[in-house]
Amino acid sequence: MSTIEQTMKSSRNDKPVEPLIFEKHVESMCGVDFPPLDVPESAIDETLAGAGINLPSFGQHDVMAHYTHLSDRNFSVDGNFYPLGSCTMKHNPRINEWAASQPGFACLHPLQDDDTIQGALRLLYETRAMLEEISGLHEVSLQPAAGAHGEFTALKVIKAYYAEIGQPERQVVLAADTAHGTNPASCTMCGAIVETVRTVDGQTDLEHLKEVIETVGANKIACFMITNPSTAGLFDVHIKEIADIIHDAGAKLYLDGANMNAMVGRVKPSDFGVDAMHYNTHKTFSTPHGGGGPGAGPIGVTEELAPFLPVPQVMMADDGSFYLDRDRPKSIGKVRSFIGQFGVLVRCWTYISACGPLGLRNVAETAVLNANYIAARLQDLYEMPYFSPEEGKFCAHEFVTVPRALLDKGVTLIDIAKRMIDYNVHPPTMHWPVHDCLMVEPTETESKYALDQFIDVMRTIAEEIEQDIEKVQCAPTEADIARADEVSAARKPVIVFTESEAN
Ligand SMILES: Cc1ncc(COP(=O)(O)O)c(C=O)c1O
Repeated sequence: MSTIEQTMKSSRNDKPVEPLIFEKHVESMCGVDFPPLDVPESAIDETLAGAGINLPSFGQHDVMAHYTHLSDRNFSVDGNFYPLGSCTMKHNPRINEWAASQPGFACLHPLQDDDTIQGALRLLYETRAMLEEISGLHEVSLQPAAGAHGEFTALKVIKAYYAEIGQPERQVVLAADTAHGTNPASCTMCGAIVETVRTVDGQTDLEHLKEVIETVGANKIACFMITNPSTAGLFDVHIKEIADIIHDAGAKLYLDGANMNAMVGRVKPSDFGVDAMHYNTHKTFSTPHGGGGPGAGPIGVTEELAPFLPVPQVMMADDGSFYLDRDRPKSIGKVRSFIGQFGVLVRCWTYISACGPLGLRNVAETAVLNANYIAARLQDLYEMPYFSPEEGKFCAHEFVTVPRALLDKGVTLIDIAKRMIDYNVHPPTMHWPVHDCLMVEPTETESKYALDQFIDVMRTIAEEIEQDIEKVQCAPTEADIARADEVSAARKPVIVFTESEAN
């Protein structure tokens, strides 16, 4: 049996339908054993007891089995290849979970005095120092709770800096037309005006950048928010020139560092002129990423911006002890409760420490190699607008395909994506940064075996489009749920379980 057939065979459709737990209810079954009463039994006042709530009765192991079956039906980064471009769904090594669950970390109370949490503060301080080293920037704050929150916080810092030096009119933020949606959203939340800069072949159009600066007025610009490598999976070859243009305008270069896994250990953002940046710890340092958070989005800044960073900041005293500094008069203030997303930062520290400097460099090299390997083996069937090794055009950690020839045969992009579900592959990001594209990011945590399987899947789908197009047009046929009406599911969700459905 071929690998593809095996993949199909083990598809989730083989599993029996799982009834709702309410439907499994067994009168008088109980999931917990109560200890013997050690007080005299007395009846509960009926007026206080109420009618009770309608919860199913079920055994402890049966409850466990029920939810395990349900979780088996989920696509997860632990169970499936999940090449979601730009969102970076990668393996979260279990050593991270082990570290975060150590009682000394997991059982801390956020209001404990500094002298009782020295180990935790040391971990935060070391994380801060490692992120400073990786970025080459002067100071890092671990406070923001997600990449988007990092953008927002850093913009606040830049705004406070310009207010301080008497240039409050710098309210415009430049962003590339391929920017992640959170970039303009964070700007708007900060009260900034966003001006779009064009990209050509995935690279910043320098002439357009200069034009926009002239039209807006150099003295109105706060920063250029650039994602490098970009969301088209390309390192911007003009980055140093861009930094010069922006600095000549008196503005700052902000790096959306979401794609640091393509250059961690290889390039320091400070070396190409970055003044402020955020990290996405889930993308670069293998912390969990669930529904946009709660995660961590540390920011790094240059020395002139550092006084404006949020409080508290974790510091090391002269005697080597650690403390939280809340006394920073120019700080923008608090952006997160207590000391930030501590459990996530423990995982981040663990990943960086486990990799070490050489391991981190290997992360970037493997992430880039993996993406290029898949792109090279699929480019004969899936057109890649930015990928052409013959012309020296390679991708970074992700690649974009616009499979025009396949689409012209009568399938839509969603057909291809849904067919991938039949082969137990999570569909990649779609229609962004360009229309009709799939953006594939394998990440460095995937083995060559997994990459080859994915390549087989994509080649099989292309073959099906040629020979048995309906299979693709009707997909998914092997999943628990056929093609859902996604618009209605999003706009008119039915999220209430009613009694009548149970009966
Ligand atoms: C390029 C880019 N910028 C910003 C973000 C936002 O990050 P977060 O989801 O952590 O808020 C993402 C998402 O992963 C991203 O890919």
